[in-house]
Amino acid sequence: MKALIPAAGHGTRFLPVTRVVPKEMLPVGSKPAIHLIVEEALAAGADEVVIVISSEKEIIRRYFDGDPTLAARIRWAFQTEQKGLGHAVLQGAPLLANETEPVLVLLGDALVSGEPPSAAMAAISRTHGGASVVGLEEVPLEKVSRYGIVRGELIEERVLKLDDLVEKPAPEAAPSRLAIAGRYLLDPAIFTLLATQTPGHGGEIQLTDAIRRLLADKPVYGYRYPGRRHDIGNPAGYLETLKAFA
Ligand code: UTP
Repeated sequence: MKALIPAAGHGTRFLPVTRVVPKEMLPVGSKPAIHLIVEEALAAGADEVVIVISSEKEIIRRYFDGDPTLAARIRWAFQTEQKGLGHAVLQGAPLLANETEPVLVLLGDALVSGEPPSAAMAAISRTHGGASVVGLEEVPLEKVSRYGIVRGELIEERVLKLDDLVEKPAPEAAPSRLAIAGRYLLDPAIFTLLATQTPGHGGEIQLTDAIRRLLADKPVYGYRYPGRRHDIGNPAGYLETLKAFA
């Protein structure tokens, strides 16, 4: 399995520190957050991790290059314009679009405390013939408008077969309270879809919009993972993360 970590975003919610320190490099204990995410991907069975960065975030590459055992398993892709998460994932296409297995995508600013979801998602995908699986977390109704929200049928404990998803719905329009939460295992067809994806919410190329199109022709499952997702991309979320990982 191959993994991809988008880590090229501006990090505006964590200014001014992100002017020089990428949020993905903020320490959680003695390791930067992105190191823990790479470890999650490797533990789930990834043999190679593609990290998408920008020229302002070369420090991430310097960090991994300093550890030869990790560096051997990492490849680099660049996003020169920050056009959104879907666009960041698309920059991995030259390295990953010809894969036959689904690609594990882990957000560079999302950590999960408790059991990391990636390994379980890989197992669910295998059970369902190599299908795509997205990690899900239940969120309060007043927060659905911050996330991609899914609709689907529960087919076994914690596993749903999805039939629709909506990016950042108003509470009254939300099909559920289950939010796509930082981890995705995606059929490589996603790269072809992203290449023609038009900008969506916020004028950005949204990964959720491309997954919605994927769903029109291939099965996508959801895994309501037992761990808790932490967003290190803003000061309050970062403090919560440190408490959870203390
Ligand atoms: P976010 O939307 O949380 O990141 O993306 P952001 O755009 O950096 O945050 P703000 O809104 O400015 O504070 C989740 C992950 O996707 C990456 C980010 O680096 C983060 O790890 N990302 C986002 C990209 O690589 N490129 C983008 O254009 C957007």
